[in-house]
Amino acid sequence: MADLSVDICGLSLKNPTMLASGVLDETGKTMASIARAGAGAVVTKSIGREPRQGHGSPCIVELGDSLVNAMGLPNPGIDVFGRELEEAKKAGVPIIGSVFGGGEAEIAEMARLMADAGADAIELNLSCPHAKGFGAEVGSTPERVESICRAARSGLDIPMFAKLTPNTSSIVDLAKAAERGGADAIVAINTLKGMVISPEARMPVLANRFGGLSGPSIRPIGVRCVYEIRGAVKIPIIGVGGIESGNDALEYIMAGASSVQIGTAVWKHGPEVFSKVCEDISEFMNRNGFDRIFEMVGVAHEVKH
Ligand SMILES: Cc1cc2nc3c(=O)[nH]c(=O)nc-3n(C[C@H](O)[C@H](O)[C@H](O)COP(=O)(O)O)c2cc1C
Repeated sequence: MADLSVDICGLSLKNPTMLASGVLDETGKTMASIARAGAGAVVTKSIGREPRQGHGSPCIVELGDSLVNAMGLPNPGIDVFGRELEEAKKAGVPIIGSVFGGGEAEIAEMARLMADAGADAIELNLSCPHAKGFGAEVGSTPERVESICRAARSGLDIPMFAKLTPNTSSIVDLAKAAERGGADAIVAINTLKGMVISPEARMPVLANRFGGLSGPSIRPIGVRCVYEIRGAVKIPIIGVGGIESGNDALEYIMAGASSVQIGTAVWKHGPEVFSKVCEDISEFMNRNGFDRIFEMVGVAHEVKH
């Protein structure tokens, strides 16, 4: 029987799936319900120092199974969110606290406050493509990624992940910089910057004009990013972008990811997606003689055409 459990930077997960930041993860109740639905870990909504409303409506456009969102990092601020974290932790899976900020000092402070609130690990959001002054705006150059990671790492005694943007000429350079700055794992990828225009209205559909594309249409880009990063860093990689099935998750794992995150598919198909992905992976492993997930990590690098 296949054993789906994985160890990511010392965190024990019963299976390699995590809830990605931003979908059903702003309250303790919804995070706990995702854990009960079968996720191996839960990443929180990205949280900042102060409460923030985010962008006005419309902030999401559906394009088949994909989405373009410009939520703009709405969140209640870390003081209020701490209480939600307590509730989420009762579900018994690792909770990874996603944080954002406007620069080295603020992000380091947020990471420390999230750790104090009880998170089991920290994910630095260096990659949101639609929030002025945050996310990709501070995480698009190797120099900033390295200095932000170094500042955040120095005040932490729990694992720290760096979530990177694909909206760059080289995500590999960002990953190497994150590793140099002390990140314990790379999360790739966040959404791709895009926009949708309504010809009838003759205007952009999103109030913010620009948003981030997620869902199955970005999976080949995410898989390529993970494959390239795997060849460049030694720390573990967490793959995210367009995963809906076990086969999709296996693409990321064979590209080099030790675990995966799922966002848009939860929005579109419900929390059952976690148990479905795990059943698919388990069935594949039994059929192909794999006992543990790590045996499959990066194997696509070994076989050449
Ligand atoms: C509605 C929505 C909100 C999101 N909010 C966040 C966020 O707060 N922080 C973050 O790092 N990523 C956020 N993301 C990006 C996802 O975590 C993920 O990286 C991206 O959507 C690709 O994965 P997916 O195709 O499985 O959704 C959000 C995505 C969506 C669709």
